[in-house]
Amino acid sequence: MSELRIAVLLVLLPLLLANVYGAAKNQQPAVTYDGRSVIVNGSRELLFSGSVHYPRSTPAMWPDIIRKSKEGGLNLIQTYVFWNIHEPVEGQFNFEGNYDLVKFIKLIGEEGLWVTLRIGPYIEAEWNLGGFPYWLKGVTNITFRSYNEPFLHHMKKYAEKIINLMKEHKLFADQGGPIIMAQVGVAGEKMQLYTEEGSKKAQWTEFNGTPTPLTWYKAYFDAPEGDNPVALRMTSMAKGMVWINGQSIGRYWVSYLSPLGKPTQEEYHVPRSFLKPTNNLMVVFEETGGNPRKIEILVVNRDTICSVVTEYHPPHVSSFDLKENKLRYNVNPIKGAHLACPDKKIIEKVEFVSFGEADGACGAFIAGKCDSKKAHKLVEKECLGKTECTIPFDRKTLLEPGNDPCPDVEKSLAVQVKCGVGGGSKSDA
Ligand SMILES: *[C@@H]1O[C@H](CO)[C@@H](O)[C@H](O)[C@H]1NC(C)=O
Ligand SMILES: *[C@@H]1O[C@H](CO)[C@@H](O)[C@H](O)[C@H]1NC(C)=O
Repeated sequence: MSELRIAVLLVLLPLLLANVYGAAKNQQPAVTYDGRSVIVNGSRELLFSGSVHYPRSTPAMWPDIIRKSKEGGLNLIQTYVFWNIHEPVEGQFNFEGNYDLVKFIKLIGEEGLWVTLRIGPYIEAEWNLGGFPYWLKGVTNITFRSYNEPFLHHMKKYAEKIINLMKEHKLFADQGGPIIMAQVGVAGEKMQLYTEEGSKKAQWTEFNGTPTPLTWYKAYFDAPEGDNPVALRMTSMAKGMVWINGQSIGRYWVSYLSPLGKPTQEEYHVPRSFLKPTNNLMVVFEETGGNPRKIEILVVNRDTICSVVTEYHPPHVSSFDLKENKLRYNVNPIKGAHLACPDKKIIEKVEFVSFGEADGACGAFIAGKCDSKKAHKLVEKECLGKTECTIPFDRKTLLEPGNDPCPDVEKSLAVQVKCGVGGGSKSDA
């Protein structure tokens, strides 16, 4: 394994360095590091990174996702670059729509966040064939992810294409852009590359009710009315991939059960922008077997919203410093539980409040033993009739004076409210 890694890094590292640092021959590089930290623009930085995979959402969704990542405490967004969507046919590149990598990175930069770009070529992200384009399998004498001439030839061309694109749009830090790190390599732990052979043999079948492995299905459906988000409930299937009107919705794997005996995800978001009013083509590639007739198209009602804040979640660390040789954390104080209705709706009903040991999740909270009676009244007072509200998070406000049912328990505040247009309940539940 290490032999493979070294071989490929030798080929690509000079290429990367030449491009990333090419713009700044005589000045201090924008990004460097020493034994203590990464240094960006001359100042030591703590990087809080999270992954956002641009092709899994649409450009219309990106600003909100990026803003929420920032509000959640990140200063760096990491993404893979997905070779097979950008080069579906050898030499023909696609950077349109939700494949618009340049736009995605510019939006991150505009929010004041940095980017690490993982160019691949092999990626591990529940993505078909590890991100390799299918045509790559047809290259004579190719061996994936190895020191193999045909493989290196194609991956180098792809990596150069991406790096040059980033350079052309001045997206690297040394050009004033937000990309502070880029990674190219064949480092990867698993060699599960040959598991997709079945896709070649795939053929359309008239579904006769018997689940079969490695089968393609297609169906047409009309878009549900309204603006609420649309999702597919894939519970009747097992493991595979879905496309709507040619756009990938991603991989599903509902046959893999968590220790709770349920799939970790059953519903898959279909962006409204993928849909036409009628005759939308759904294509499913099922790897093991399931009943496609029972796939459901759902409208997700976002009128029920929740907020959970706990005493045991550490608050965001904003910086570290040394005092008398001891490392100190400087944290952003927890402000409280914030609720905001979509589409300027107002909070019509407080459905659940617990300051104590509530369990469960939004839509299915379960009260615990030491709930405070006062918290419910407080939420009603602060939130009813408003578009948004914040409940302060401290024991003094949330408990009756001198009446803490279990003072030694670390508590959570869980709130669930229902939004509506006001003046009665004409809801679309
Ligand atoms: C592929 O490999 C075979 C066996 O090593 C060799 O004879 C052949 O010339 C190779 N083909 C190409 C196009 O490199
Ligand atoms: C470095 O500072 C310059 C000037 O303030 C700024 O334009 C640039 O975006 C910064 N670079 C990074 C990577 O933060």
